[in-house]
Amino acid sequence: MKHFLKEIDFDKAQLLSFIDSALDFKAKKKAKEGHAYLSGLNIALLFEKPSTRTRAAFTVAAQDLGMQVTYLGASEIQMGKKESVADTAKVLGSMFDGIEYRGFSQQIVEDLAENANVPVWNGLTDEWHPTQMIADFMTLKEHFGYLEGLNLTYIGDGRNNVANSLLVTAAKLGVNITIIAPKSLQPDQEVIDLAKIQSTGGTIHITDDITASKGSDAIYTDVWLSMGEDADFKERIDLLWDYQVNQNLLDLTENPEVIVLHCLPAFHNTKTEISKTIYETYGYESLEITDEVFQAQSDIIFQEAENRLHSIKAILYWSLK
Ligand code: CP
Repeated sequence: MKHFLKEIDFDKAQLLSFIDSALDFKAKKKAKEGHAYLSGLNIALLFEKPSTRTRAAFTVAAQDLGMQVTYLGASEIQMGKKESVADTAKVLGSMFDGIEYRGFSQQIVEDLAENANVPVWNGLTDEWHPTQMIADFMTLKEHFGYLEGLNLTYIGDGRNNVANSLLVTAAKLGVNITIIAPKSLQPDQEVIDLAKIQSTGGTIHITDDITASKGSDAIYTDVWLSMGEDADFKERIDLLWDYQVNQNLLDLTENPEVIVLHCLPAFHNTKTEISKTIYETYGYESLEITDEVFQAQSDIIFQEAENRLHSIKAILYWSLK
């Protein structure tokens, strides 16, 4: 069964083949070349957390491949409340050809995979965000033309799902990865060890020193408080304030060609309900990335967002072809 649950389940060649397949699908889409190779299949999208990119990407990718899609939101099914994950998996697996899950514990998506008898895809858990990785490294490959030896620096909350996924995926792909985070927000030793074991030659550097960004080809950041995380927002902002992606941080890279990636959504201005409340309460106009940097880098950031579609399509096709 071809599940897509976490990056460590795949070797370097497999990860690269997802990226190459995603680039092919992107070219087909741009050329308006039909690719409804999976017509007649049905997939279910289970979302226990909100989403824009992942939901839209799974939906359009499946439809482009000729499939029908059913969205099942957290309040619309019984899973976990009146019905176990295993029983839900057996029912959905008897009706659908594949199941996407976005939610909390990695164990849930693993349990779905064990019981569904159809492919299961991880659309984000608290631990990993693997579909995001194929889009991110695809974007790096599009921009630079290669991956091995690139210097990728993640700065911010180094223990969240995106940081975990970047750490192990970069290690597997031979990309030099630096995680810059305050000591209390650095990756778990278990994830660092996994990355070291799976490394194919790139360096792994974990530090709280922002000057370690020197020589970066790409800077990556993410929100400072993840979905469902129970933490004091002001404390988190105070802890991470020095780790904001701003012009000073980009200057520290000493690379005028450095690019910035962000999986989105981003707190870069006060144009959302939450960011307005943060501004009114604490006086911050942006958090993990300034609006100046976000706007200057928006072409590559939105290219990264678009690549969620092509990369998820490659994953669906690999599972179901
Ligand atoms: N990056 C990402 O997962 O976006 P969504 O939360 O909108 O799906």
